[in-house]
Amino acid sequence: MNKNKNLVVVGAQWGDEGKGRIIDLLSEKFDIVSRFQGGSNAGHTIIIKNKKIVLHHIPSGVLRNGKISVIGNGAVIDPDIIVDEIKALRKKGYKVTGKNLKISELAHLILPFHKLIDIGREIIKGKNAIGTTGRGIGPCYEDKISRQGIRFIDLSNKKILKDKLKMTLKEKNKILSLVFNQKKISINTLVDDLMKRFKFLKEFIVNTEDFLNKSVNQGKSILFEGAQGVMLDIDFGTYPFVTSSSTISSNASSGTGVPYKKFGKSIGISKAYATRVGHGPFPTEMIDDEGLALREFGDEYGATTGRPRRCGWLDLIALKHSVEICGLDEIILTKVDILSMFNNINVCVGYKYKSQKFKKFPMDNNIIDHVEPIYKTFKAWNNEDLKNKKLPSSLQSFIKYIEKFLNVKVSMISIGPEREQVIYL
Ligand code: IMP
Repeated sequence: MNKNKNLVVVGAQWGDEGKGRIIDLLSEKFDIVSRFQGGSNAGHTIIIKNKKIVLHHIPSGVLRNGKISVIGNGAVIDPDIIVDEIKALRKKGYKVTGKNLKISELAHLILPFHKLIDIGREIIKGKNAIGTTGRGIGPCYEDKISRQGIRFIDLSNKKILKDKLKMTLKEKNKILSLVFNQKKISINTLVDDLMKRFKFLKEFIVNTEDFLNKSVNQGKSILFEGAQGVMLDIDFGTYPFVTSSSTISSNASSGTGVPYKKFGKSIGISKAYATRVGHGPFPTEMIDDEGLALREFGDEYGATTGRPRRCGWLDLIALKHSVEICGLDEIILTKVDILSMFNNINVCVGYKYKSQKFKKFPMDNNIIDHVEPIYKTFKAWNNEDLKNKKLPSSLQSFIKYIEKFLNVKVSMISIGPEREQVIYL
């Protein structure tokens, strides 16, 4: 058993598993919470004393006194959104300064043309669109990989920034006007806007890999907070209906610069059912009145875009895929209370396609688009019974079955949106 105390928490489904509130809870026991990938496409919702807080960039640890939040090099950051987020937190009474929030100088900036290209491309794709959040994530990571991105470190020298952006805009403005019928972006306006943002953000921008490694060496503990979910991973998700970053546990190392041997456990968060926003395969989707009712009862609307989420039964084949790819040590099941709306609940334990049966998630779109789920049915539970010391027997059977199927312990369940509404198992 790995004795390192640094923990990685990832979404084990298609995102929106309730990571924010769980990380907020777990962060109590850690010194630092660090993001390692994704950007403003993420929307982590935390409810404290009936007040809803939605975070896009800033790790959920920021809500706890004395904790340090870090946004690692693997993240992409929209300077407008992060400035607004910091201001909104301060307005709500949370202290956010360079002491408790650190942004990697190597993180890439999401710029206005990234958003325009993201949205324009989706329009061109029409019915084949990915259903992105429109936050410019894909185009920003593209620029990073093609070595023409702008990083926070570039903001410290206006002249060099201007030269770099001049080169980038040569290409982007052609694309914007010729392909997407958009207005060209003025270099001077863009540079001035970025300089304004830099003035505000300067106190937060540091060498985070150095900070994190020094902290680890001093015995401090880090909770690595994943965004999106394993099924949206650029390699191991339902490509091309995925996000543009690596959402799996091991990327916590590349996305922060903390060596992989310093990592301990990895926990996956899964709802007790499944949801997905955007397009792409979703074998257990309930395209019926029950699915619509689940959406309403579970309040399944996106925290970032407000889009209605597609709802379906828990898919253990997809979850097993996440367990394997991430080497998950534990699963936390969220929104267990929501399933009490049903008399019986289904769990997918295999797929059928033509005469074939699948026990592993098929990566071939020609298959996964057409599989039929094989379900095991469980009796649901009554929410009142969740208040008892002993879990209802129907819920116990449900959890035991999941543990056996995945060969992983379910270590906690959430039974309501408030911080305290969880049961440790
Ligand atoms: P992008 O990350 O905005 O490029 O969107 C790509 C896909 O990932 C789309 O299906 C989005 O709906 C989905 N996605 C991105 N971020 C999240 C998230 O935080 N939760 C759930 N789905 C997400």
